Amino acid sequence: MNLQNKNVLITGASGGIGQALSLQLAEAGAFLWLVGRNREALEKLYAQLPHRERHKVILMNRYSDEEIYHLAESFQAGVRLDVLINNAGSSCFALFDKQSFSDIREQIHTNVELPMLLTRALCKQFREGGVILNIGSVLGEIGHPGYSVYSATKASIHRFSEALGREVAPLGLSVLYVAPRATSTRLNSDAAYAMNNALGNRCDTPETVARHVIAALEQNTLRSRIGLAERLFVKINALFPSIVDRALSKKLPTIMRHLRSPVKGSLK
Ligand SMILES: NC(=O)c1ccc[n+]([C@@H]2O[C@H](COP(=O)([O-])OP(=O)(O)OC[C@H]3O[C@@H](n4cnc5c(N)ncnc54)[C@H](OP(=O)(O)O)[C@@H]3O)[C@@H](O)[C@H]2O)c1
Repeated sequence: MNLQNKNVLITGASGGIGQALSLQLAEAGAFLWLVGRNREALEKLYAQLPHRERHKVILMNRYSDEEIYHLAESFQAGVRLDVLINNAGSSCFALFDKQSFSDIREQIHTNVELPMLLTRALCKQFREGGVILNIGSVLGEIGHPGYSVYSATKASIHRFSEALGREVAPLGLSVLYVAPRATSTRLNSDAAYAMNNALGNRCDTPETVARHVIAALEQNTLRSRIGLAERLFVKINALFPSIVDRALSKKLPTIMRHLRSPVKGSLK
């Protein structure tokens, strides 16, 4: 896909990857619908974009059903969507028994429910050749201690992308899935950064991830993961999970040391 003059809607546009992606998409000539909850951050981003007159900010207070219906209606008024990027996401790096009900719900809501509801509301608004791109995570394909809920939500969006992609391919739509590895944004807590450092895990900049996402859109790459070692690890985990069990069990004392640092624990 050539992104010039394409209508692209991106959720979580005010986040680290969302901002980098919006800047690069605007430079590639796309018309952006910047969706998010934080008006100030969205307007600051909007002010930095080239060709500001082409873009718009869509504030979602809670991504309620009403807000989502309203968003879908704005497309029914004649404008067609070319790309939907389900980028908003949340993560809680903590032992499972230290995650509150609201930590668990927040991750399921943001990483699974929201992209599915938005896709459902907007799926009739695409032009021929439209693309839905879901941002997953390599942790969706490698269950990692400390990320039980996050890994489960990202695994879910991976399968959703695959199943829906197979369903809508005959209609001329593509569903792409991009899985970044650790990226330096505020998604990761200090404990998560410290653990990645201690384990020698590579951490990308949001700009690197944005370049990767744009390449996936331009080349219509259905599934892509960032990082050579991570790609290899994903394959080994799929074929021989016991090898990854052993590798991670050796790292467990380091992981646990960083997991014990957050103070949480109530169910509220
Ligand atoms: N950073 C990483 O290490 C990493 C690695 C792999 C995959 N990813 C994925 O990349 C995507 C972007 O993450 P990021 O690294 O850019 O993180 P980020 O800087 O924390 O941005 C996350 C975005 O998601 C939005 N969001 C969070 N909770 C939400 C909720 N309950 N409802 C609606 N929106 C919500 C935030 O909106 P507000 O500004 O309104 O809070 C923010 O715009 C996510 O899907 C994440 O899972 C990140």
